[in-house]
Amino acid sequence: MGERYRQTDNLIEAAKKAREFSYSPYSKFKVGAAVLAKSGKIYSGCNIENASYGITNCAERTAIFKAVSAGEREFTALAVIADADGPVAPCGACRQVIAEFNIGQIIMANLKGNIKIVTLEELLPFSFSASDFADA
Ligand code: THU
Repeated sequence: MGERYRQTDNLIEAAKKAREFSYSPYSKFKVGAAVLAKSGKIYSGCNIENASYGITNCAERTAIFKAVSAGEREFTALAVIADADGPVAPCGACRQVIAEFNIGQIIMANLKGNIKIVTLEELLPFSFSASDFADA
């Protein structure tokens, strides 16, 4: 088993474990995510819903915010998993956060073992970033 494959597998496993902690009494849709920092550490998270639906925090953002609040700034990959027909895709808000931290590889998965891996550029083309207001 190659190192790259092992890392992907570890990340999916971490996301799957975090999914078990999902707080989703409204949608009942459990999502888990995990990010791999360049430090080698993995940070995971789940979706956390609210009676005021709109302030729900997705699993991807929970994982990224946990990592950043622990001092991490650089990442190589993020995995997300849910019990969906196909690999689950990050929402638009999460894509923007993934782009902010330049996470190059996004691994989408489901519980059936379907996996789709894309680059950040594929996930969010024409993204808005700090460079857009550099001259402002
Ligand atoms: N959700 C995530 O956590 N990540 C995704 O990639 C898609 C959506 C959550 C938000 C909400 O708690 C539930 O899934 C249904 O939208």
